[in-house]
Amino acid sequence: EKGGYPHFMLKEIYEQAQAMKDCMRGRLLEQEKRVVLSAVTHHRERLLNAKRVIIVSCGTSWHAGLIGKQMIETFAKVPVEVEYASEFRYRNPVIDARDVVIAISQSGETADTLAAISLAKERGAFIFGIVNAVGSSIARITDTGTYIHVGPEIGVASTKAFTGQLTVLTMLALSLGKEKQTVSTTEYEEIVAELAVIPDKMERMLVFDKQIAELAKCYTYARNFIYLGRGYNFPVALEGALKLKEISYIHAEGYPAAEMKHGPIALVDAEMPVVVIATHHQLYEKTLSNIQEVKARKGRILAIVTEGDEVVKKLADNVIEVPATLACLSPLLTVIPLQLLAYHVAVMKGLDVDQPRNLAKSVTVE
Ligand code: M6R
Repeated sequence: EKGGYPHFMLKEIYEQAQAMKDCMRGRLLEQEKRVVLSAVTHHRERLLNAKRVIIVSCGTSWHAGLIGKQMIETFAKVPVEVEYASEFRYRNPVIDARDVVIAISQSGETADTLAAISLAKERGAFIFGIVNAVGSSIARITDTGTYIHVGPEIGVASTKAFTGQLTVLTMLALSLGKEKQTVSTTEYEEIVAELAVIPDKMERMLVFDKQIAELAKCYTYARNFIYLGRGYNFPVALEGALKLKEISYIHAEGYPAAEMKHGPIALVDAEMPVVVIATHHQLYEKTLSNIQEVKARKGRILAIVTEGDEVVKKLADNVIEVPATLACLSPLLTVIPLQLLAYHVAVMKGLDVDQPRNLAKSVTVE
């Protein structure tokens, strides 16, 4: 069933281009230059009248939510809050009938997420699910939703579900923005066209697999890692750190790059690998100076850059190049080398990648 791959996780990393196509099938209409989500068509008024959106989720799904927030705020111009489901459910949050709650969950069985939406529903909010497992508990209790349709995810470390969640969140933000006329036709069509070619670009990322496997050898003895990113790629830094922690058991922290100087930089020395997402997007120049700060303290830099970047190449110890794309879609590409890095470090350490210690695929207890 692993289709010739040594682990489900690697299979699922490799499947992401196909999974994304499956997720967009019938929804992204390339010829017509538009996206259609039936949930948005059927619940247009309710969704467009939302005074705010609250995203509830856990783990990787929460990271996808942080990226979704940026897209929904940018394109649909509605305020979005992103909450850990476990905190939200016990906080006695202020919610009313004009709120829309988006629950993101791969398994559809996460206990905290389920409890968070039950509470929001009792208080009259409208619940939109972004779920993978068809017919799961969360899918059943939501008022509407969009399945990510990426196929079963078996590896405990979430990979293709994350990129599927981002794909649905992008289509959702675009549909809402189009209906509300808060996104220009030019920008809307540009993103739709670029979404259609992302699977090919994802495929191209896989050529780095061997290089990352080689690189992983230098990192097996690291005790700590720092991951940095900004804008749409700050949550990708969090996600890269989570992947490394859960399967390789190396302590890792993700930060928005500018936060470095407010504390974490004290940790940097020759023993500290720092993974920096420094693509040609928001705040590239500022990220460059963060890289210089790390180098001045002898930290070892692995940078994720846009293809053809010569500047970072001179500063970093290693670089992985990703094809150029729009800022909001860049996480779909930048996350792939981070998934591969975590995978190969864990394999080098001889660990059980698909079933890491202390973790379950779906967390159905508190
Ligand atoms: O099934 P869910 O998306 O609700 O699961 C949420 C988290 O438990 C999950 O993303 C977890 O963090 C993963 N193991 C991360 O790789």
